Amino acid sequence: MNNLRTISKVIEPQYAMEGAGVLLRRSIAPRASNEFDPFLLFDHFAFNDPVEGPIRGFPMHPHRGIETVTYMLEGSVNHRDSLGNSGLIGPGDVQWMTSGRGILHEEMPRRGPTGNIYGFQLWVNLPARLKMGQPRYQEVNAATIPCYERDGIRIRVVAGTVGGVTGPVQEIAASPLYLDLALDPGAEWTQPVEPGHTALAYVFEGEGVFSGETVQAVNLIEFADGDHVQIKTENSAVRFMLFAGAPFREAIVPYGPFVMNTVEEIQQTLQDLRNGTFVK
Ligand code: FE2
Repeated sequence: MNNLRTISKVIEPQYAMEGAGVLLRRSIAPRASNEFDPFLLFDHFAFNDPVEGPIRGFPMHPHRGIETVTYMLEGSVNHRDSLGNSGLIGPGDVQWMTSGRGILHEEMPRRGPTGNIYGFQLWVNLPARLKMGQPRYQEVNAATIPCYERDGIRIRVVAGTVGGVTGPVQEIAASPLYLDLALDPGAEWTQPVEPGHTALAYVFEGEGVFSGETVQAVNLIEFADGDHVQIKTENSAVRFMLFAGAPFREAIVPYGPFVMNTVEEIQQTLQDLRNGTFVK
């Protein structure tokens, strides 16, 4: 590893209201320019009712052509869908949902004992050949997410491999790395990231020096190409998510909860919804 990925951009999340009155911090949203290919959207739910906003949720809604990845740290999300799945995504749990051709689901946040709701949702694109595939869920319980630990460093590995520890989420088209990293003060970590893959870090607690530049919470970092990122801490601890994945380099047409490759496919999606043929 001799090609350090420098920071190409730091994005400050903006407050957005989504679903039925859910306040969240949004860093990226689906756009035709597909700048963060294969990543489409990143939302951070971080609020305490009624201080920052009402907690209602995301009543039944459709998705097609994407994957949604929900990771909760505090509170939970009560979930049910058109495949007959239902359950609670609790603290430390991950749900990696591949919508394929279509899913209808409901996602209702619930406060934890502290009153807080704290979690993340990432949208990952699907390549054209898989957009109309079968929907699939990978539900991962907190206890089954392995943690790589070294002096002053703890890394929960959801997808990808860190120091021989492989995450439970498998067979995702974008070959992603999805990590939750915590560094104590005075620590240093070098993370290999596949050259050519898009790499993002979401700094949500403390501050760290990312490839030579200090970044504080709360910010999303986009890294330039290379084969590794380097994170150091000085007097402060830092906690951040790290995502990397292979870009598909295909044209996209985002439309609300759908991301397809052409306008015709979006029109077909809306027609399927009207005709009741969206979910087979
Ligand atoms: Fe959803």
